[in-house]
Amino acid sequence: MTDEKTGSDTATEHMVNYDRNSYMQSNLVKSRADWIERAVRDIGPQKTEFRHLDLGCGPGHTAIEAVKPSIAAYRQTSPNGHIAVCHGDQPHNDWNGLFGLVFSGSGYLQDKNIRTEASIGSFYDVMAASGSISLATCFVASHWLSRPLLISSPGTVWYADLEGDARAAYEDLARSDWTRFLRSRAIELAPGGYLIVSTLGSTPDLEEINGIRGSARHLYRAIHKVAATMVTDGLLSEEALDRFIFPLWFPSVSDAVGPLIQNEDLEAAFEVIEASVTDAAINPQDAYQDWLADREKYAELYTGYVRGFGESSLRLHLFEKSAKTVDEADALIATFFERFEKLYRAEPGRYASETLTMTLVLRRR
Ligand SMILES: C[S@@+](CC[C@H](N)C(=O)[O-])C[C@H]1O[C@@H](n2cnc3c(N)ncnc32)[C@H](O)[C@@H]1O
Repeated sequence: MTDEKTGSDTATEHMVNYDRNSYMQSNLVKSRADWIERAVRDIGPQKTEFRHLDLGCGPGHTAIEAVKPSIAAYRQTSPNGHIAVCHGDQPHNDWNGLFGLVFSGSGYLQDKNIRTEASIGSFYDVMAASGSISLATCFVASHWLSRPLLISSPGTVWYADLEGDARAAYEDLARSDWTRFLRSRAIELAPGGYLIVSTLGSTPDLEEINGIRGSARHLYRAIHKVAATMVTDGLLSEEALDRFIFPLWFPSVSDAVGPLIQNEDLEAAFEVIEASVTDAAINPQDAYQDWLADREKYAELYTGYVRGFGESSLRLHLFEKSAKTVDEADALIATFFERFEKLYRAEPGRYASETLTMTLVLRRR
């Protein structure tokens, strides 16, 4: 398919079967509950309403898990105070799926003073009225860049293995996106409000390319390995693979705080409460280590995980570029995931996905 027909300037579209395939993300979101509760206690009772904006909320139960701790904490501070929960994501998020959960028994509309709403757009732009937000959260989402970059990247599909000019171009985009993200939150947050961001991170490691080890390095290298077999078999064009990179950046601590130090407006806007990259609270060495002994299940879970977060990027920016029709792109995707699952089944543990959690907590001055 040509770029004219399929070209997309977004990094990702809807997550595929996300609710079933978000075990790692769910663990990460749940592990942030203490930070949320502490922030809500410090924010204290609000005059009109307590408004929680969850950015990059996604379609599934993790969006509910992200807001329940703030509702519970605010109810301790203000038993009858008004609460607004605003879910922020892109237009192609599964909004019906999300609001189906919000209004279900497992949702959070437990009393008449809690309302729910959505803000549809990009978190690189302002998503709420100026000064209207008490707490903004963003979990496992801000590592998606604002757009893909057309660069040459033979041998890798992963930003962290890029070198030279290609790495510099990615780093520039990541830095300017992150600065935009923070400036947008500086506008939305009320004085005394909090921003809590947690996502996949990176940590210095002299044995790694570029001296930095990013989350999930073995998984991204496995994705490239499988895609390369499709080039060898004439199913995928070499040029398409050489130009495909997941539009991601897993920040280190210095990436996370850089714009807050380098820009006077951001330094004036925010107090840094926490900036860290640590091993994930659960299964940091292998997201699915609990299933290592069952190779079928292990491979199935990893395949579902990559489908969940990655299928739309792979479709938009890799397989549609090697296909003439949608059916052909579907067949390529099916082949890719069959081979991926086979690789994980053959050697469970070899391509384990490590999880480093980046946490940034900021207070609006
Ligand atoms: C992996 S899901 C995370 C969902 C949920 N927060 C969680 O922790 O499970 C990433 C979400 O970020 C959203 N996203 C990616 N880029 C975005 C952007 N620029 N603006 C708003 N949402 C974005 C995607 O649409 C997707 O729903």
